[in-house]
Amino acid sequence: MDYIEIEGGVQLHGHVRVSGAKNAALPIMASLLLTTGETCLRNVPRVRDVVTFAQVLRALGAKIRTDGPELIVDTTAIDRFEAPYDLVKTMRASFLALGPLLARYGRARVSLPGGCAIGARPVNLHLKGLQALGARLELTQGYVNACADRLHGATIAFPTPTVTGTEHILMAAVLATGTTIIENAACEPEVVALAEALTRMGAHVAGAGSSRLVIEGVPRLEPAVHDIIPDRIEGGTFLVAGAITGGDVTIDHCRPVHLSALLDHLRATGAAVEVGDDWVRVIGTERASPSDLVTAPYPGFPTDMQAQMMALLTRANGRSVISETVFENRYMHAAELGRMGAEIHLEGADAIVIGVPQLYGAPVMATDLRASASLILAGLAAKGITTVSRVYHLDRGYEQIEVKLAALGAKIRRLP
Ligand code: EPZ
Repeated sequence: MDYIEIEGGVQLHGHVRVSGAKNAALPIMASLLLTTGETCLRNVPRVRDVVTFAQVLRALGAKIRTDGPELIVDTTAIDRFEAPYDLVKTMRASFLALGPLLARYGRARVSLPGGCAIGARPVNLHLKGLQALGARLELTQGYVNACADRLHGATIAFPTPTVTGTEHILMAAVLATGTTIIENAACEPEVVALAEALTRMGAHVAGAGSSRLVIEGVPRLEPAVHDIIPDRIEGGTFLVAGAITGGDVTIDHCRPVHLSALLDHLRATGAAVEVGDDWVRVIGTERASPSDLVTAPYPGFPTDMQAQMMALLTRANGRSVISETVFENRYMHAAELGRMGAEIHLEGADAIVIGVPQLYGAPVMATDLRASASLILAGLAAKGITTVSRVYHLDRGYEQIEVKLAALGAKIRRLP
């Protein structure tokens, strides 16, 4: 297993290009099961989760080839309807194959995704929504056996916004007969990107980006060309890298509007932030100011940036309170940061971060995707050498992060 070694204390300077968003690419790849023919996806991030989802589509009979950052997916020969456990357990978003297979072919057998490091991650709202659309579901041996004559429209009200739950029902509803209304839908940019992709394929979706989606079912969808939106979490991670090292980092090819909550918090910690039409520049300070933080569904502060901001706040000159309201166990990085000298007290959903003047390099272990990013960030600012093991977590959602950070001046390398 690879690990990453960092010699901290270097101020990062320069420009970095943000890759396509993993969490936009995955649902759009699932939506290709709704069409028959060849689709071209552009600006696809070369990250492990995309590779895994490509394996799921191949297991169903799709033909996939890559051409640089383009993914060509041909769904003409979909002839199997099972997403196996070994793939779904590797990458839970594979579960999103269920709804499209049901909508297009009337049948599917998809493994339930297990939990993961950050929480139980139930899919009860996905299943309830699919049943409301007419799916007949049977749970046996950890699999969902599903069938439906033809899905029909329904009104589905989510008790809590769920990003992939919204995406799942949206994808099933576009081929259902009649009208589907999703109340309390997620508003994340990745949900909007999926709705726009479905619309390009011929779907009728209104309200994307709001908490109320209205879908008029259509008989069929046609392949189209899709550009994956920039990854706001990857971009945000590099901005925090600039702030935590007291450097001057600009992310290019991004959508600043997707980063508003993060930029507000970076300003609150004392960083200078400049915003262009497709770039954002952050100039860090010697030491951050403390700033409380509450994660929330979009457009609130993204839970996927909580671990990265915690790394920044561990060196602030004061006390910050972080409240993680989305997932029940998303502080796995706190103990590892503590091994680098951070002072963090966990109290239920809150993490009390007492800023310290200096972090110190140490061997640490990644536990989940964003936790590993926060350890890399802490290593960039720490005095001495930090080694981060189990970087396969990192590779799930970041395309060559050590190469991009080295280009900004970081002393970082990947070792086998
Ligand atoms: C998506 O996960 C993202 N993954 C996550 O990113 C992200 O952290 C999360 O949204 C929140 O923004 C992808 O898009 C592939 P949720 P998702 O359903 O859809 C509860 C990363 O780092 N819930 O919005 O699984 C759930 O337990 C990943 O890239 C139910 O109770 O998140 C959670 O408390 C990590 N029942 C809350 O809703 C359900 O059926 C929000 O989860 C579904 C969700």
